[in-house]
Amino acid sequence: MDKLVVHGGKPLSGSVDISGAKNAILPMMASALLVDGKTELDRVPDLRDTRTFIRLLDMLGANSTFADNKLSIDASNITSLEAPYDLVKTMRASFYVMGPLLARFGEARVSLPGGCAWGPRPVDYHLKGFEALGAEVILESGYILARAEKLKGARIHFEIPSVGATANIAMAAVLAEGTTHITNAAMEPHIVQLCNVLNDMGAQIEGIGTSRLKIHGVKALNPVKITTIPDMIEAGTFLMAGATLGEITLNHVDPSHLAIVLEKLEQAGCELNVSSKSITIHKCDDIKAVDMTTDVHPGFPTDLQAQWIALMTVAEGPSIITDTIYKDRFAHIPELNRLGANISLENNVAIVRGVKSLKGAPVMSTDIRASASLVIGALMAEGRSDISRIYHIDRGYERIEEKFQSLGADIRRESE
Ligand code: UD1
Repeated sequence: MDKLVVHGGKPLSGSVDISGAKNAILPMMASALLVDGKTELDRVPDLRDTRTFIRLLDMLGANSTFADNKLSIDASNITSLEAPYDLVKTMRASFYVMGPLLARFGEARVSLPGGCAWGPRPVDYHLKGFEALGAEVILESGYILARAEKLKGARIHFEIPSVGATANIAMAAVLAEGTTHITNAAMEPHIVQLCNVLNDMGAQIEGIGTSRLKIHGVKALNPVKITTIPDMIEAGTFLMAGATLGEITLNHVDPSHLAIVLEKLEQAGCELNVSSKSITIHKCDDIKAVDMTTDVHPGFPTDLQAQWIALMTVAEGPSIITDTIYKDRFAHIPELNRLGANISLENNVAIVRGVKSLKGAPVMSTDIRASASLVIGALMAEGRSDISRIYHIDRGYERIEEKFQSLGADIRRESE
C-alpha cells in the first residue's frame, strides 16, 4: 500500500493544469452504453475510478481503449447486463450503468451499493424513478434486478436534488416512450454536461441547468465526441492549499463552477485574479475564520467541505462548518486534530478553533476528499507527516503528488 510523505511549510508557486472532472466522466462513460457505436472522450482523468469504470464497461462487453487521457468506448456488442458486487463495492458510481442498460436492453442487474465511510447512501430515488418509468424492480441476493420491455415517460420528483438519481433517470428516460418530467433535479455542472452530451447524441432534453428537466424520448442515439469539463473539486483543493502557502495559478478551470468557493476564499482574506479559464490565488498570512454550510449546486459543494475545514484550522478565530448533504462526512476531523488542529463535532456541525500552526504527524486517509484535506493539512504543518491508505486519494485525484511537487511542495509517494 502506498503512502504520501510530506515535509510541510514549504511555499508553493507556479501553475498547475486542472484535470477533467471525475464526477462528470463517470456518468458520461455510462452514457456510452446507450449507443450502438464508438463514443470518444477527451481530457479523461487517469484515476483509479476511471480505470474501475473501464473494467466494468469491458465486463459488460464494451471495447475500450484508454491512453493519454483519451478514452474510446465501443458499446456495439454488449454481452452482459450485470454489474458485479466486487466492482460496485469499490465504486458506488458503478450504479450509473443501470439506467442506460435498462433503457437500451430492457434489463439490468446491478449489485446494491452498501454504505460508505460517510454513512448510509441510499439509492431509493433511482429505484423509485425506474419504477415510475414502468420497470419492475426487485432485490435478489444483494442485486437489484430491473426489467421493462419498454420504458414509458413519467413525472418524477426528487425529495432532495440527487446528482446520481438525476443522471441515472435522465439516461433511462432519453430512450423511453413519451415525455419524462424530472422536478427538483440536480443542477451540478456535471449534470449539465451529461445532459448536453445526451442531446448531442440525439436526445431531446429541455431545461438543462435548471431544476426541471423535460425529456422527450427518442428511438436511438448516435456516437459523439466529448471533452470533459474541468474538475471543480480538484481546483478547489488546490485553491485551499494556495490560500496559506503561496501564489498558484490554476489553468484549464471553469471559474463559473466555483463562484461560491471563490466568494468564501475572498471573505477569508485571499486575493484572487480570475479570468475565463484560469484562477490565481495569492498567499494570505492572516486567514479569517469564515462559516460555511454545504448545499447543492450552486451552493458550497460537500466535496470541498473537508478541504475548507483544513484551511479553517489555521484561521484567526472560530468557524462553524455544517454539512447538510452528508451528515456523517467528518472522518477527517480526528486526523486533522492529530496534526494539532482544534476541531470538535456536534452532529453535522464542525466547530473549528483556529490555531497558530499545525505540526506534522502520521495520519490516515478514510475517503477521497478527507484524504485531500489531510494533504492540505500536511502541506501547512511544520515537519513530517505520513499519510497512509492513499488509494482513496488515487480514486479521485490525478497524480496529486506530482502536481504539488511541480509547485515546490516536498511531497513524495512511498510504498509502506
Ligand atoms: C455525487 C458525487 C459525490 C458528491 C455528491 C453530492 C459522483 C460520482 N459522486 O454522489 O462526490 O458528494 O454527489 O454532491 O458524482 N439520496 C437519497 N436517496 C437516493 C439518492 C440520494 O436519499 O436515492 C440522498 C443522499 O443520501 C444525500 C443526497 O441525497 O444526502 C445527495 O446525494 P447524491 O446527490 O445522490 O450523491 P451521489 O450522486 O451519490
